[in-house]
Amino acid sequence: MLNVTILAAGQGKRMHSDLPKVLHALAGKALLAHVLDTARTIGAEHIRVVYGHGGEQVRAALDAPDITWVVQEPQLGTGHAVLQALPGGVLSAPTESSTLVLYGDVPLIRASTLQRLIETAAGGSLALLTAHVDKPQGYGRIVRVEGRVTRIVEEKDADDAERAIREINTGILVAPTAALQRWLPTLGNRNAQGEYYLTDIVALAVAEGMQVATAHPDAVWETEGVNSKVQLAMLERVHQRNIAERLMESGVTLSDPARIDVRGELNCGRDVGIDINCLFEGRVELADGATVGANCVLKNCRIGAGARIAPFCHIEDAVVGPDSIVGPFARLRPGTTLGRDVHIGNFVEVKNSTIADHSKANHLAYVGDATIGSRVNVGAGTITCNYDGANKFRTVIEDDVFIGSDTQLVAPVTVGRGATLGAGTTLTKDAPADQLTVSRARQMSVPGWKRPVKNTGPKKKD
Ligand code: UD1
Ligand code: CA
Repeated sequence: MLNVTILAAGQGKRMHSDLPKVLHALAGKALLAHVLDTARTIGAEHIRVVYGHGGEQVRAALDAPDITWVVQEPQLGTGHAVLQALPGGVLSAPTESSTLVLYGDVPLIRASTLQRLIETAAGGSLALLTAHVDKPQGYGRIVRVEGRVTRIVEEKDADDAERAIREINTGILVAPTAALQRWLPTLGNRNAQGEYYLTDIVALAVAEGMQVATAHPDAVWETEGVNSKVQLAMLERVHQRNIAERLMESGVTLSDPARIDVRGELNCGRDVGIDINCLFEGRVELADGATVGANCVLKNCRIGAGARIAPFCHIEDAVVGPDSIVGPFARLRPGTTLGRDVHIGNFVEVKNSTIADHSKANHLAYVGDATIGSRVNVGAGTITCNYDGANKFRTVIEDDVFIGSDTQLVAPVTVGRGATLGAGTTLTKDAPADQLTVSRARQMSVPGWKRPVKNTGPKKKD
């Protein structure tokens, strides 16, 4: 059984933030949530999170039935942290045969790399994830004698020869849980930082004659941590580039892979095209042949096959039917469902409404809490007056209705099938089917009327 211990007690001072470091978001998701999700995909039976500073907030944000929260207070080092999280304490017999140590602030570690590390540890050895880097500064160095790992030396404790070593400790390791129970209580803190170093277990393993093996990540960014906003932004770009590459490899056309952000899950069919500066949040589905124009924000929505989202649209919790055209500059708010071949044009807002096949609202309209049938034309400037200041009411517009421009539909109200509303109508009662309904003052003209002229005579005295 695999026990996963995630170290997340560090304060993250360099973030200069009131938010605990591991709650800062990468691709819209907390750093620690990335690590938790990866741990779950490799089949962690049980996850222990060691928390410290701001821990209650972290726990409240990410608690789940498979997590045990372990407080580390004060924070005396990584060895001390893992000791706090030993399953059942130091004395009980371990039910979990090996322990994988992860860091809550190293969000992009991949499951495939962890699988390799776990395989390396199979048979009861200590497995370290190490990497060869050009700039090893700040990391613990892997000391080898005749190719065999003998210990890890921290930068601050290293001599010049050790500092020259370019194989670094990523901090991620797998150890037999029983061995951790033997070793961790014996760690000392007589070192440059006065901390209980987890890395000291390597020398203990060697002393016992245990094999110390190493595995390596596919890419160095997998093991990079977030200590500052600069590093957070850097890893965000790495992550977004990876997502963009995956999309392109699956056939999506991206006008610029550096100008798309996915904060959630984006699923695309065949021949989907996405123009620059688009943001996708939550779960978004773009069906075959759908295109998204520049500068759109799409959150939790489904865009049907062949639909076209023109530039500058904002779409949230909505469904756009096949072959529909939305925008430019349209806003689809939660609860919007558009049928097939629906046209929503510029400066049109739709909320909590259903618009059936072949209907159009092409210019400057507000459609809220409405049920609109097929082949309806909603004229420019039309609004549903759905709110009386206290309650919301529905507007029903049946099939084949023509609504003239600048109409107000004061809900609750129904426009019968095939009805026409004259431009400028304020509809307060139901409009019967197949008739013209118009409510506006009759037009009149005044013959001989003169436009007033400005008085140019001497000013009146007050
Ligand atoms: C550690 C390793 C070092 C490695 C580096 C990789 C040790 C002694 N050193 O160094 O070999 O190259 O990581 O980044 O392990 N944490 C706790 N409680 C503590 C101390 C730390 O939970 O008491 C957590 C931190 O929140 C962080 C992780 O452990 O997520 C690593 O701590 P950090 O202080 O960054 O370790 P380093 O000194 O950088
Ligand atoms: Ca560190």
